[in-house]
Amino acid sequence: METAFDFCVLLLLLEYSEKLEKMDINDANLDALANHLRQTLAPDVAIRKPAEHFLMSVETNTNYAILLLNLIARENVDLTVRVAGAITFKNFVKRNWKIEEDERDKIDLKDRNAVKQLIVNLMVKSPEVIQRQLSDAISVIGREDFPEKWPNLLGELVEKFGTGDLSVINGILQTAHSLFKRYRYEFKSDKLWKEIKFVLDNFAEPLTQLLIALMGLTKQYANDNNAQKVVYNSVLLVMKIFSSLNCQDLPEYFEDNMQVWMQTFENLLETNVPALQSATDEEAGVMEQIKSQICENIGMYAQKYDEEFYKYLPVFVKSVWNLLVSTSLQSKYDSLVSNAIKFLAIVADKDKNKEIFAESNTLSQICQNVIIPSMEFRESDEELFEDNPEEYIRRDIEGSDLDTRRRAACDLIRSLSRHFEQQMTTVFGQYVQVMLTKYAENPAQNWKNKDVAIYLVTSLAAKGQTQKQGITKTNQLVNVTDFYQSHVLCDLASDNISELPVLKADAIKYVMIFRNQLPPAVVKQTFPYLIKLVKSENPVVHTYAACAIEKILLVKQADNFAMVRSEDLATVAQDLLSNLFGALALPASKENDHVMKAIMRSLSTLQTAIVPFAGQLISQLTNILVLVARNPSKPHFNHYLFESLSLVVRYVCKQNPQAVSDFEVALFPIFQQILQQDVAEFIPYVFQIFALTLDFNPNGISEAYMSLFPFLLAPVLWDKQGNIHPLVRLLRSYISKGSQLIVQTGKLGAILGVFQKLIASKVNDHEGFLLIQSVVEHMSPEAIHPSITDVFRLLFQRLQSSKTVKFSKNLITFFCFYVIKFGAPAFIQVIASIQENMFAMVLDRIMIPDLQKISDPKDKKICAVGVTKILCEAPDTFSGAYRNYWGTLLQSLIGLFELPEESADVEDEHFAEIDESAGYQAAYSHLAFSGKDESDILKGQIPDVKLYLAASLHSLSIANPGEVGTVIATIARPAQDYLTKYLQVANIQLV
Ligand SMILES: *[C@@H]1O[C@H](CO)[C@@H](O)[C@H](O)[C@H]1NC(C)=O
Ligand SMILES: *[C@@H]1O[C@H](CO)[C@@H](O)[C@H](O)[C@H]1NC(C)=O
Repeated sequence: METAFDFCVLLLLLEYSEKLEKMDINDANLDALANHLRQTLAPDVAIRKPAEHFLMSVETNTNYAILLLNLIARENVDLTVRVAGAITFKNFVKRNWKIEEDERDKIDLKDRNAVKQLIVNLMVKSPEVIQRQLSDAISVIGREDFPEKWPNLLGELVEKFGTGDLSVINGILQTAHSLFKRYRYEFKSDKLWKEIKFVLDNFAEPLTQLLIALMGLTKQYANDNNAQKVVYNSVLLVMKIFSSLNCQDLPEYFEDNMQVWMQTFENLLETNVPALQSATDEEAGVMEQIKSQICENIGMYAQKYDEEFYKYLPVFVKSVWNLLVSTSLQSKYDSLVSNAIKFLAIVADKDKNKEIFAESNTLSQICQNVIIPSMEFRESDEELFEDNPEEYIRRDIEGSDLDTRRRAACDLIRSLSRHFEQQMTTVFGQYVQVMLTKYAENPAQNWKNKDVAIYLVTSLAAKGQTQKQGITKTNQLVNVTDFYQSHVLCDLASDNISELPVLKADAIKYVMIFRNQLPPAVVKQTFPYLIKLVKSENPVVHTYAACAIEKILLVKQADNFAMVRSEDLATVAQDLLSNLFGALALPASKENDHVMKAIMRSLSTLQTAIVPFAGQLISQLTNILVLVARNPSKPHFNHYLFESLSLVVRYVCKQNPQAVSDFEVALFPIFQQILQQDVAEFIPYVFQIFALTLDFNPNGISEAYMSLFPFLLAPVLWDKQGNIHPLVRLLRSYISKGSQLIVQTGKLGAILGVFQKLIASKVNDHEGFLLIQSVVEHMSPEAIHPSITDVFRLLFQRLQSSKTVKFSKNLITFFCFYVIKFGAPAFIQVIASIQENMFAMVLDRIMIPDLQKISDPKDKKICAVGVTKILCEAPDTFSGAYRNYWGTLLQSLIGLFELPEESADVEDEHFAEIDESAGYQAAYSHLAFSGKDESDILKGQIPDVKLYLAASLHSLSIANPGEVGTVIATIARPAQDYLTKYLQVANIQLV
């Protein structure tokens, strides 16, 4: 088949021309590589960047990986260069080892095999810094190849246990740990379970034997501190591997050998090796890490395998309890204490363990000796608050994974409250009173008492909490509003915003997490206070205030609208915006995510009320953009910055379309720089904002946009997945704004070239459909006519080579789209011109069987109208060549109508959240506020598709008296009844 779009030929040439260089292993090449690696360490960007770019550009050359491994192995090369090599190798593996769907394999098979042969031996004999990188690389490779394509890996690892060399054993354990740790969070599947089984069959017994040997060595080396340290490090890794191997299900092997492991756990929990204590207060020593991991392991057993574990429970509760009461407050014990408390929380949560805690004495002991001490605001917390606010915030409100004592104590309170709500509330209620009284005696001195009181009330009151909603369920015994009025409001409202910052932060946090429980009027009243607190110089305080503002702007009322409206906010907009931007001017908060997010949400609430501030906003935002573009480092901050820019452009231009040229003047020079300097992180955003300004431009495609156009077709841009949606979005804006200009200047071919590339890919075919729909929607028949057969051919070709459900759905929608634009007869004619009888195949193999798979409400509507037109407006379908399909197609259409609706309540974009967990750039950089780019092919003319079908059938019956009813009488039962109903509702009788 011949389809000639020049652009595609160009693409292919470019892809293959770069693979010419040879990378033999020789001194010259090794030296050159070492040199480039050394340059990647240079502080000067002008040296570093080109070196990084160069290495990336040659990394898919044959032999590159082997050359790199050879360099890493050379002991006479600088260690820093070897480490840089190991990191580069790891990143290379991360980028390229996995073969992405519909991408070609970028690594030679020979290289793949050579890497797998070399890497384990290289890893074990390398210094620890390199070992760590290589062992990560092994786990990335293992993720793809283990066990099927790397069956001897495990054997190779186990074999080295026998060497007795502790540094080798450590390396092996480290690797095994990185290889197996994904079992902890991956979903159950047959494949995963097979892999774990393979690992258990080959690894569980050697691991157990190794543990026994290691425990022996701890005695043997009792007087050699260095050796002990190495041995215990290995023990720690064994404890971690135990966790990975046991987390999906209880393996038979470990069930049979539980006694050995549990006995060892118990011994270790009671072992103290003073020599292995860390010297500082912050850093946990290896023994603490081991005990902490053991608490996690037994917590897991208590949680998941409680029957098998039950007989060990009393012993462990006792030793964990002893551990807790004998551990002091230094932060190096935090993880240990929090895992130990978590273990108790898990035990307390189970109904059948209730008795263990039932005595009121036990309960108050736990409260006094475990919970209260863990709640204390310690010196180290205060230091964190002052010196490392970012970390403080992360731990306190961002739900960092890091375990804190406070959080674990909260969990314990929650578990115990399930069974003993009344008692817990009484015990702590008294305690809270004591704390508050102490505070009242001397606030300046005793503020930490109030901090604990607030924390306790919060933990007691909050029975359920989510990141999105804050608190969702509260304890009936605690009156949240009452406590707010009596003890929180005063800190929030105090005139001196610099005083007692920790209590200010606590007060803000209280409002923030109870925003859905406090009466709306109360929450609204906090706004002026919060705006004022954004001015606090303390980073925690102004961050919390911004964060609270942002979250309150998202609170919905019962009617699903936001509680705070544009008009509510407009009166305070001046202060709000100037305080938020003021916070960004403070050095500690230059790229503060929360503040930027609050700006975004405020603009989204204000909508057109931002117009008076437009000039000021645009200059503030562009100044920030110029700064961050030099070195984009905080993805969330940058994302909210671009969202904010979109909002300003949108709402200002909505009010005054002519203003778009002011934005173009302000933004284009910066955007141009971003493109020229290839600031990859920002490029997808820039395209989306270009699309937005172009959409608003009342004068269509100006000179500036025209000169950008050729650049948009550069293949390198399309190679980055993250650019594809934004580029398609932008091309669609070009098409809708200036279809004639595109045709006149001969650029349609290039657009179709892009279409061809997209449609060939399973990942991006839907983008190809979006593009071609725009072409069909906005271009005249004359413009499209010369290429349309080729377009259809390409679609059929793809259908034949790899049909997917997604592709079929998109294809049907596109067909219907085409029918709506050009009419059913024209559509049938194009298809028939490709091959005789092709249209019958389309009906039989695609439309009729797959129509009901369409689920998107907008697509469903397009298909409903398109198929109705095919049924009723093309003579061939009812009475001509295709009449045999008419009844089944109609039946399929009725099926589409009667399928359960997919929920259509799309959330208003004001409530949009970026997906915090999304790993890839692609999903990540979509700007929610850059406007919708939906086509409007139906122009709102068909409100009810069932009525439309009834009316169309009526017209058809007039042209074919008596016949339509006869055919309908032959279609299957439920469909026929539905149709009768549509006709009744429409009050139509077929002729
Ligand atoms: C909680 O306290 C507030 C303010 O003191 C009061 O108006 C409200 O009735 C109390 N709610 C309950 C459920 O007791
Ligand atoms: C506000 O509180 C700070 C810190 O306690 C204190 O240094 C300052 O003098 C207070 N300002 C006023 C006006 O009271």
